[in-house]
Amino acid sequence: MLFNIIPTLLKIVFICGIMWVEYGFAMSAVTAVTLVGYIYFTLAVTEWRLKFRRKMNDKDSEANTKAIDSLLNFETVKYFGNEEHESNRYDKAIAGYEKAAVRSQTSLAYLNVGQGFIIATGLVLVMIISINGVASGAMTVGDFVAAHAFLMLLVQPLNFLGFVYREIKQSLVDMEKMFELLSVNQEIGDKEGAVDLPEGQGEIEFSHVNFGYEDNRQILHDVSFKVGAGQKVAIVGPSGAGKSTISRILFRFYDVNDGAVTIDGHDIRDLTQSSLRKSIGIVPQDTVLFNDTIEYNIGYGRPDASKEEIREAARLASIDSFIEKLPDGFDTIVGERGLKLSGGEKQRVAIARTILKQPRILLFDEATSALDTRTEREIQESLKAVSKDRTTLVIAHRLSTVVDADEILVLDNGKIVERGTHQALLEQGKQYSEMWTRQQEVANYQEKLLQVQE
Ligand SMILES: Nc1ncnc2c1ncn2[C@@H]1O[C@H](COP(=O)(O)OP(=O)(O)OP(=O)(O)O)[C@@H](O)[C@H]1O
Ligand SMILES: [Mg+2]
Repeated sequence: MLFNIIPTLLKIVFICGIMWVEYGFAMSAVTAVTLVGYIYFTLAVTEWRLKFRRKMNDKDSEANTKAIDSLLNFETVKYFGNEEHESNRYDKAIAGYEKAAVRSQTSLAYLNVGQGFIIATGLVLVMIISINGVASGAMTVGDFVAAHAFLMLLVQPLNFLGFVYREIKQSLVDMEKMFELLSVNQEIGDKEGAVDLPEGQGEIEFSHVNFGYEDNRQILHDVSFKVGAGQKVAIVGPSGAGKSTISRILFRFYDVNDGAVTIDGHDIRDLTQSSLRKSIGIVPQDTVLFNDTIEYNIGYGRPDASKEEIREAARLASIDSFIEKLPDGFDTIVGERGLKLSGGEKQRVAIARTILKQPRILLFDEATSALDTRTEREIQESLKAVSKDRTTLVIAHRLSTVVDADEILVLDNGKIVERGTHQALLEQGKQYSEMWTRQQEVANYQEKLLQVQE
C-alpha cells in the first residue's frame, strides 16, 4: 500500500489532472478511458482465469493423493500386480493437472496481450491528438514528447498493480482448501465450562448407551455395564459386533446418541478431552507407528519419560530381547506406519508405550491377537502385573485370555446377549460356552504342537 499502490493511484490522478490542464479535455479523456479500460479488463479476465487455477489445484491434490495412496500401499499394489494400473491412475490425474496448468498459462497470455492492446490503443490515440496539436501549432514538439512520456509513466505501475492483483487472487484460491478446512466444525469439542477429570479410582459406567456412526444405522443398542475401580471386564463377541466402537466412545471420539458414559461418576461430555484421554491407555486393534526409532515410538506414551523407563516398559512388554538383537537396537527406524516390524512386534511396542503412560484406565482391544500362544502367555503375565489395581477393559477373541475377568460381556449385533463370570457363562451353556468349546479344541491342538516343538 505505502510504496506501490498509493503512489500509483496518486500518479494516475496527477497525470490525468496535468493532461487536462495542459492539453485539454480530449487528451485527458483518452488517458482516463485507457486506464479505466485497462483496470476493468484486468479485473474481469483475472476473475475468469481463476477457475483454471482452481481446477489446476484440484487436479494437483488429486494426483498427490493418488501417489501417496499407492506408495503407502505398495505391498498391496505388488500383491495384486497392479503397478501398471496404479501408474495409469496417476498418469491420468497428472494429465488433468497438465491440461489445467496449460489453460491457466494460456489465459495469462490472453491477459497480457489484451492489456498490451489497450495500452497501445491509448498511446496511439494520445499521439494522434498531440500530432494534430503540433500540426495546428497549439502544441510544441516538447508537448508531444511529454504527453507520450506521461502515459508511459503510468503503464509500468499499472502493470505492476495488475500483477499484484493477480497474485493475491491466485494465492487466495490456493488457500481456499485451507480456509475450508479451518472452518469445518469440530464434531466433538469441549463444552463450555468443561472440567478436568479429577483424581479418582477410574470406575467406568455405560448406562443405556445407544449409538450409531450414521443416523441410519445403529451400532450399539441399550448397552449398560459397569467396570468397578480396579476391576477387569472383558467384552467378547463376533466381528462387527461393536466392541471397538465401545472403546472409541470411551475415548469420546464420538458422542453417544442416548444414555451416558461416566468415569468416577462424571459424564465424559462434561470433561475436557485432554484430561479424559490422558487417563486412559489403549492398545488398539491395529497399531500404527511413527516412522521414527523404536525408542521414540515407545516413548510416545509419555514424551518426558527417561531412557531407563522406556527400557523397563520394553522389558515388561517382552520386546527387549528382540530389540537387543537388532543391529541398531532402540535406534532402529520402524518405517512408515511401522512396516518394518512384524504384526506381533508392533503390538508389543504398543503395549510398551501404554505401560509407559501409566493411565488409571486400561483398554486392550485384541492387544495380543497377533502373537503366538507362547509370547501371548508371556505378555499376559506382564499385562496382569500392569493392570493390577487398574480398571481394565479387555476386548478379546481368544477367550483363554479373559477367564479371570470379573465380568464377561458377550456382545452380538450391538446388544449384550450374555453376561457373567467365566464359570457362570459356561454353566449357562449358550453362545459363550459354545465359543469356549470351539476354541478349546484349537488350543489343545496348538498345545500339542508346542510340546512337539520343545
Ligand atoms: N467410522 C465408522 N463409520 C461407520 N461405520 C463404522 C465405523 N467404524 C465402524 N463401523 C461399523 O460399526 C460396526 C462395529 O464396528 P466395530 O469396529 O466396533 O466392530 P468390532 O466388534 O470391534 O469387530 P472386530 O472384532 O472385527 O474388530 C461395524 O459393522 C462397522 O462396519
Ligand atoms: Mg474391533
